[in-house]
Amino acid sequence: MSTKIICIANPNGGVGKTAIAACLAHSLSVKGGRVLLIDPHPQGQSAIALGRSPEPGVFYLLTMGMSQQETNFINSWVFCSGREGLHILPGDQQTMAAQTVLSAQDKPVSAIRQTVSRFFKEGPYILFDTAPSVGGTLREERTVWASDLVIVPTATEFLSADGVGKVLGIMSILPTFYDEQTCESKATIEDLEQRFASSLLPPIHCSTLLREWAARGRTIFEMNELCRAAREYQALAQIVLKY
Ligand SMILES: Nc1ncnc2c1ncn2[C@@H]1O[C@H](COP(=O)(O)OP(=O)(O)OP(=O)(O)O)[C@@H](O)[C@H]1O
Ligand SMILES: [Mg+2]
Repeated sequence: MSTKIICIANPNGGVGKTAIAACLAHSLSVKGGRVLLIDPHPQGQSAIALGRSPEPGVFYLLTMGMSQQETNFINSWVFCSGREGLHILPGDQQTMAAQTVLSAQDKPVSAIRQTVSRFFKEGPYILFDTAPSVGGTLREERTVWASDLVIVPTATEFLSADGVGKVLGIMSILPTFYDEQTCESKATIEDLEQRFASSLLPPIHCSTLLREWAARGRTIFEMNELCRAAREYQALAQIVLKY
């Protein structure tokens, strides 16, 4: 089985990218073996949510060369998340500086695929959480370029869903914060069905447990593996496994 690179991306902030990256990564690691979660968010959100500190691993990944020595050095920033099979390459504030270095290096945007390929032996899945700025920065453009699948979470509200059209790539749309009790959620799903029919994934509902998971440093499966959100993430992982 060849390694699949998956990127969770949306130019809008707070639409559930980190929740999806971490919970999907955990679910895939339980079902499908080793997963490497790469965290280019300058706040190191995925790392913190999984109980680790932000670290400059992503800066080194984006800016260093491909020699064996450099690869070994970058590998030394890959940490076990404390969950079997789930590893993380954390980012921190230094990821912001990668922008300047990347501009000066003048590498083609497609070089990221080769950069990440050194981790292909790590396991069948590499996931990127991203910051809310696709199209605006070299870092996020590169993660989209590197990916076999781009999952675009969109909150089921008008202004969030409107931003979806701005992301290019091989993408699947994942509605989040879905609340069947509101007309806005239902109308947004109908709108997304019309615009992205074949690319639309089943929604993740607005869940009280998902509001709390990051603060507790536990994924949804560690909070309540039988709850509705956990089942929705498991279903998402099944779809990704078949992709
Ligand atoms: N389906 C959901 N239901 C309820 N709360 C959620 C859901 N998904 C995520 N959250 C919560 O909403 C907040 C924003 O989610 P998250 O941090 O995953 O968004 P993000 O897109 O990564 O944000 P940013 O753009 O800042 O990186 C967090 O407090 C998170 O725990
Ligand atoms: Mg985030």
